[in-house]
Amino acid sequence: MKYSYWSTLILPILLTTAPLVHPAPLDSSSDVPTWNYQNVWLKDSRSAMAVASTSRYAIFAGGEDNVGEPTTLVDVYDHQTNTWSASNVSQARRSMVGATLANRYVLFAGGMVSGTSAYSDVVDIYDTQTGQWLNPPARLSLPRANIQALSLGDRVVFVSGSADASAATGNSPMVASTTVDMVDAKLQWTSSVMKAGSSSSAIPYFSFGPATGSMLSSPDSAADPASQSSVKGVLVGGNYFENPNEVRPVQKVDQRTRLITTTSLKSNEGLTDKSSDSLFINGPNLSTAVLEAVGLLAGRYFFYAGGRTAPSSPGSSPSGSTFSANVEVLDVGLAKSTKSSAHWLAKDQGGKLQLSEARSQIATASLASNKFVLFGGGLINDQSGLVTKTIDVYNTHTQKWVTSESNYMGFHIPRTGASVATVGDCMVIFAGGRIMGNRNVTGAVDMFDIC
Ligand SMILES: *[C@@H]1O[C@H](CO)[C@@H](O)[C@H](O)[C@H]1NC(C)=O
Ligand SMILES: *[C@@H]1O[C@H](CO)[C@@H](O)[C@H](O)[C@H]1NC(C)=O
Ligand SMILES: *[C@@H]1O[C@H](CO)[C@@H](O)[C@H](O)[C@H]1NC(C)=O
Repeated sequence: MKYSYWSTLILPILLTTAPLVHPAPLDSSSDVPTWNYQNVWLKDSRSAMAVASTSRYAIFAGGEDNVGEPTTLVDVYDHQTNTWSASNVSQARRSMVGATLANRYVLFAGGMVSGTSAYSDVVDIYDTQTGQWLNPPARLSLPRANIQALSLGDRVVFVSGSADASAATGNSPMVASTTVDMVDAKLQWTSSVMKAGSSSSAIPYFSFGPATGSMLSSPDSAADPASQSSVKGVLVGGNYFENPNEVRPVQKVDQRTRLITTTSLKSNEGLTDKSSDSLFINGPNLSTAVLEAVGLLAGRYFFYAGGRTAPSSPGSSPSGSTFSANVEVLDVGLAKSTKSSAHWLAKDQGGKLQLSEARSQIATASLASNKFVLFGGGLINDQSGLVTKTIDVYNTHTQKWVTSESNYMGFHIPRTGASVATVGDCMVIFAGGRIMGNRNVTGAVDMFDIC
């Protein structure tokens, strides 16, 4: 089914605002991409969609409407034909996670089945080769939502996420699930429960909402010191509750950085009692951790971007917290494939970059073999619910921000929490999100390509 409401705009039409002031150097050289722009609309306005893409398709699944009600709706973009079609997952859910397996299967796992609670264990699997959903869907070993999915070579690893307190793992109410589910290209599942190592502190094994990134294989792997591992997964920060069983536990930020490599994946195989050291290699702590930061792994660099400070008093909402413009750049290539943690701060990339606007809930993507890294939209003020249309673009080759007056790109509808996919390594699609604080979903889709 084709969308009938196509419209095509030329980018300069977006030049409606004053030029942005960037604290980092701007690249006005010739090494600036030309973005072709299309604007379409989702079938239904929504936010909290799960997203996954192959080299041909970008798929946006489920999500929630203005009052948090979940949906089954799926919007599928076919890059080859430049058309959209609609589909449904088997169960209406919000806060699912999407992942791509073997550039063929697209998985949508877990989530919540109503506006308030009830976790799902459903994993809807779409086979892009046949255009069919697998029936029946697969199941996670434990129902949960807001999971992180790492696509690593020929498998996907599902970690973290919130689960029902009464579930068999004995997780207390404010602790992220310790269950790990793994699926390989033959759609064989294995699951385990991670156990904290003996040296562990009060920090739970996983935090809620860590910034994650993963990479099947790095196009620049020849020049990459970490190339002995063709796959990488990074898990950084997040938040947890100190004394989770108290009525008003203190919300804390997690400063840890951790890495999965081919070696650690292998060493984890067949272990029944998974310890903290078997799957993840501990890295250095972040210099400043925040809530709601997002992550992106582009080649050997992991970008930990934006976010907000944790509330100072127990049980208080993050409302009124300070937003961050920082992007901490970690050089995963410096990590040794042993348990020892190297210093990961990427000095050659500036170590710390500054976004043009402090914000949280940013949509991040990379394209052109990780040459360009994009930071789109976000929440800039939580009392007024103000959101932004800004997309900051960083060139990892020149190590400069490429946004400039003559090459401005932004959302046509300012918003936060957009879902983002890269397709064909040259087109980035930002879809849906919220136009005010935590409400007011939109169906806006912005498509930029340098193909
Ligand atoms: C998806 O589900 C909706 C609501 O149940 C239905 O109206 C629509 O026809 C379905 N779409 C497809 C492509 O099956
Ligand atoms: C990282 O920070 C945690 C506290 O958040 C601390 O317990 C741990 O020792 C730190 N690790 C390193 C390597 O500094
Ligand atoms: C936001 O949503 C609320 C509740 O649905 C509605 O009353 C309000 O008009 C919406 N605001 C905008 C700007 O769309």
